Amino acid sequence: MVDTFSSSWRPQLHQRPRWLMSFLTAYRTQLLVLWVVGFVMVFGLQVNSIDGVGLFSMKAAARPIPRLRPVAFNLTDFGGVGDGKTLNTAAFERAVEAISKAGARGGGQLNVPAGRWLTAPFNLTNHMTLFLAEGAVILGIEDENHWPLMPPLPSYGYGREHKGPRYGSLIHGQNLRDIVITGYNGTIDGQGQAWWTKYKKKILTNTRGPLVQLMWSKDVVISNITLRNSPFWTLHPYDCKNVTISGITILAPVFGAPNTDGIDPDSCQDVLIENSYICVGDDAIAIKSGWDQYGIAYGRPSTNIIIRNLIVRSVVSAGISIGSEMSGGVSNVTVENLFVWETRRGVRIKTAPGRGGYVRNIAYRNVIFENVRVGIVIKTDYNEHPDEGFDPKALPIITNISFSSIHGQGVRVPVRIHGSEDIPIKDVSFRDMSVGLTYKKKHIFQCSFVDGHVIGSIFPSPCQNLDLYDEQGNLVKRSVSQNITDIDYDI
Ligand SMILES: *[C@@H]1O[C@H](CO)[C@@H](O)[C@H](O)[C@H]1NC(C)=O
Ligand SMILES: *[C@@H]1O[C@H](CO)[C@@H](O)[C@H](O)[C@H]1NC(C)=O
Ligand SMILES: *[C@@H]1O[C@H](CO)[C@@H](O)[C@H](O)[C@H]1NC(C)=O
Ligand SMILES: *[C@@H]1O[C@H](CO)[C@@H](O)[C@H](O)[C@H]1NC(C)=O
Ligand SMILES: *[C@@H]1O[C@H](CO)[C@@H](O)[C@H](O)[C@H]1NC(C)=O
Ligand SMILES: *[C@@H]1O[C@H](CO)[C@@H](O)[C@H](O)[C@H]1NC(C)=O
Ligand SMILES: *[C@@H]1O[C@H](CO)[C@@H](O)[C@H](O)[C@H]1NC(C)=O
Ligand SMILES: *[C@@H]1O[C@H](CO)[C@@H](O)[C@H](O)[C@H]1NC(C)=O
Repeated sequence: MVDTFSSSWRPQLHQRPRWLMSFLTAYRTQLLVLWVVGFVMVFGLQVNSIDGVGLFSMKAAARPIPRLRPVAFNLTDFGGVGDGKTLNTAAFERAVEAISKAGARGGGQLNVPAGRWLTAPFNLTNHMTLFLAEGAVILGIEDENHWPLMPPLPSYGYGREHKGPRYGSLIHGQNLRDIVITGYNGTIDGQGQAWWTKYKKKILTNTRGPLVQLMWSKDVVISNITLRNSPFWTLHPYDCKNVTISGITILAPVFGAPNTDGIDPDSCQDVLIENSYICVGDDAIAIKSGWDQYGIAYGRPSTNIIIRNLIVRSVVSAGISIGSEMSGGVSNVTVENLFVWETRRGVRIKTAPGRGGYVRNIAYRNVIFENVRVGIVIKTDYNEHPDEGFDPKALPIITNISFSSIHGQGVRVPVRIHGSEDIPIKDVSFRDMSVGLTYKKKHIFQCSFVDGHVIGSIFPSPCQNLDLYDEQGNLVKRSVSQNITDIDYDI
């Protein structure tokens, strides 16, 4: 599907010498195709579910739930009551206990039927599938006294919002393997409003908990569900290996839902995030690997990450971020077939002196911005530190960052790459870029302490820090200086 999409428009742009005149038309076609792809991917399941349940015949039975493990249970087998009021923590715990005994036989499946299942946080177990039927909603209890406190993450050394312990997540797991959370688009709802309100009133004394957090785990699949209204970050795989996230919807209010990042792969390797829709009150995705001296000491990078076929929106923050906590290093990340709309920052890398670590071998391709304030951002002065113990001489290295097939419209500043004398940004490249602007000023492709090159036609014209090559790879113009500073935060 995606192949058709890229081959249908990419050559088109190359074949047209007067693309400047026609890119808008080409862009519309491409946008349309992407929307069709997006529509099929995001709404396909819904169409299926209409077939299964029959909105047209109200009496039709619920879609039968597939048997994905040798043993399967129904939450009601353990006394669960889906009335939105009864607390189901004990039912979930008993179910997990039963499944933990089935591990040797290939694990167990817990089916959560349609209904509203209020619960306090609970832990998953090995070889477990949590299946959320259509209309199933797991509701997180609002009262924080039901949320366990846990030690800070070792690579943060700090709760993130407050010193000392932090709340655990609604659905949690540590040192697990073979975990599946899936369903017919059932929902896990953190009822975050109460938390956001308390956070804003500064009532909380510990860091808010994520909605789903798996730590030190491997072989994880999260698919075909909806996550909404997380108190804090929504889905947080921490120091995990082999994680697939596919076909999910993540929602939180675009305003007034602080720190509700969609997905935060943190010191993780071998991660695939695809075919999903994310619209939240902070970054849609933020790849991380620990904070300053704690992250450097923990030393676990995020690497081998593919992010593709996503539609994201973040009115107050960014579509896809790397950092700012990246002290364990971030490498080998591919972001492709991404549509970012009504967003403050499209794709962003952020760091600061004190972080240490590196961000390298990062490729963005087939990215479309639609009404984005700043399209591409690299920022090296994001000075937020866990405590005074950070080492200001621990300078991150940022190198080998490539952007190809970057398009869109309604963008105010397409590029702002703000390196510094301490943290120069190395080997940045651009190829095939045409971004429609809302602000006609000269220096909107902003750079400072950047080296790298552009290949072929780039609109708007690139900053002078970069070398210019033609499509055949011949040098056209050598950069004037890599240290030119042309950054303007006032536009
Ligand atoms: C899943 O549910 C969410 C929330 O209701 C909805 O926005 C989304 O379109 C649904 N996804 C699919 C694939 O049906
Ligand atoms: C679970 O049990 C309830 C109550 O007995 C029943 O209505 C529902 O169909 C069952 N669901 C599944 C998925 O087994
Ligand atoms: C889940 O497991 C972790 C680690 O063992 C523990 O600290 C936490 O209290 C458990 N959470 C719940 C709700 O039991
Ligand atoms: C990754 O996890 C999936 C799902 O559990 C599993 O099927 C696959 O074999 C794992 N891959 C590796 C390389 O272990
Ligand atoms: C998600 O749902 C789609 C459409 O129903 C299905 O084809 C796919 O196998 C499901 N994926 C997973 C990983 O459960
Ligand atoms: C980069 O990541 C991809 C996808 O995870 C993986 O297949 C590839 O082997 C990685 N490359 C390196 C050099 O680690
Ligand atoms: C730059 O990163 C790309 C992946 O984005 C990788 O294939 C390539 O080998 C890297 N180049 C260098 C010089 O490391
Ligand atoms: C540019 O800045 C770097 C430090 O980031 C310095 O080493 C180099 O000498 C500077 N070059 C010029 C031409 O000023």
